[in-house]
Amino acid sequence: QAFFKPIQNTASPSSTKRHTKVSVIGVGNVGMAIAQTILTQDLADELALIDAKADKLRGEMLDLQHAAAFLPRTKIVASVDYAVTVGSDLCIVTAGARQNPGESRLNLLQRNVALFSHIIPPLAKYSPDSILLIVSNPVDVLTYVSWKMSGFPSNRVIGSGTNLDSSRFRFLIADHLDVNAQDVQAYIVGEHGDSSVALWSTISIGGVPVLSFLEKQQIAYEKETLENIHKAVVESAYEVISLKGYTSWAIGYSVANLARSLLRDQRKIHPVSVLAKGFYGIDGGDVFLSLPTQLGRGGVLGVTNIHLTDEEMERLRESAKTILEVQSQLGM
Ligand code: NAD
Ligand code: LAC
Repeated sequence: QAFFKPIQNTASPSSTKRHTKVSVIGVGNVGMAIAQTILTQDLADELALIDAKADKLRGEMLDLQHAAAFLPRTKIVASVDYAVTVGSDLCIVTAGARQNPGESRLNLLQRNVALFSHIIPPLAKYSPDSILLIVSNPVDVLTYVSWKMSGFPSNRVIGSGTNLDSSRFRFLIADHLDVNAQDVQAYIVGEHGDSSVALWSTISIGGVPVLSFLEKQQIAYEKETLENIHKAVVESAYEVISLKGYTSWAIGYSVANLARSLLRDQRKIHPVSVLAKGFYGIDGGDVFLSLPTQLGRGGVLGVTNIHLTDEEMERLRESAKTILEVQSQLGM
């Protein structure tokens, strides 16, 4: 006998709602921060977790399931077998080695490319229509690798890129000026890492363009102060890693923010890693790096054509060159 006596001929509204499935590959610090943010923000009907370590994976699945009474209803499944990811709308890849204190992201490349050859092909096989969102480092090169290994069109292969660096940037500017970070519009573009580029000319607070405001008021702004803020952004991850061993909370929120724009078709602009060839004078090869990009249910909808200064353009091209040099070691 059923617990509820069904009422005939009434289609429940939930049965007509689109089912949203998200898979998270890698249940380490980053994967779990993303999983828990996605759950609390009610972004998925089904969450599939994958990891190579079966015990850790089952433990994490059970621990999340035990929060069911406090969370929006989401089916949580986990397996070392990629069949569990079948029919995903979004696959978020966080598996792989992370930096030791002082180690650069680019140094992780060889270790993580080898893992990706076991991860990307099965994801593409079980969810051929999904969007791939890559988080593992070095994220720009691994997004390129995922594009190649999946055979997906480039609009459905995205790296979390400088969405996180831009949040750090907005926090530091907001802190400096004592305003709310959500009122600060500011982009870091290029490599998620040491060669990232701060777009000072794009910063506005509450709709007021900051640099031209200072110029009009004849307030001299010190280039050194601006450079120091960017330097602090670049050093952020190194500092957190040296203090707690890894970064997790900010990347968790950053990726959930991207997942919302993608799954809910928000058409918001995010600095994320996309195939950049042909934009902003970037040529010389298929390189993924972060540009201000409009995201929606179809993945990448477009790249914003913002006006960059000559210096910003030059730095962006240098960042592309850095990534391409590393990528050329792969021979793919
Ligand atoms: P972690 O060591 O805590 O977790 C990595 C997980 O990957 C482990 O659970 C491990 O078992 C799993 N794994 C390893 N090989 C696997 C495979 N073949 N298949 C499935 N799972 C596998 O590391 P972390 O702190 O979660 O960091 C993960 C990655 O995210 C690192 O590469 C790190 O540099 C990167 N990261 C990126 C950003 C960003 O902004 N893009 C931010 C933070 C961390
Ligand atoms: C970050 C990682 C380490 O937190 O890429 O920036």
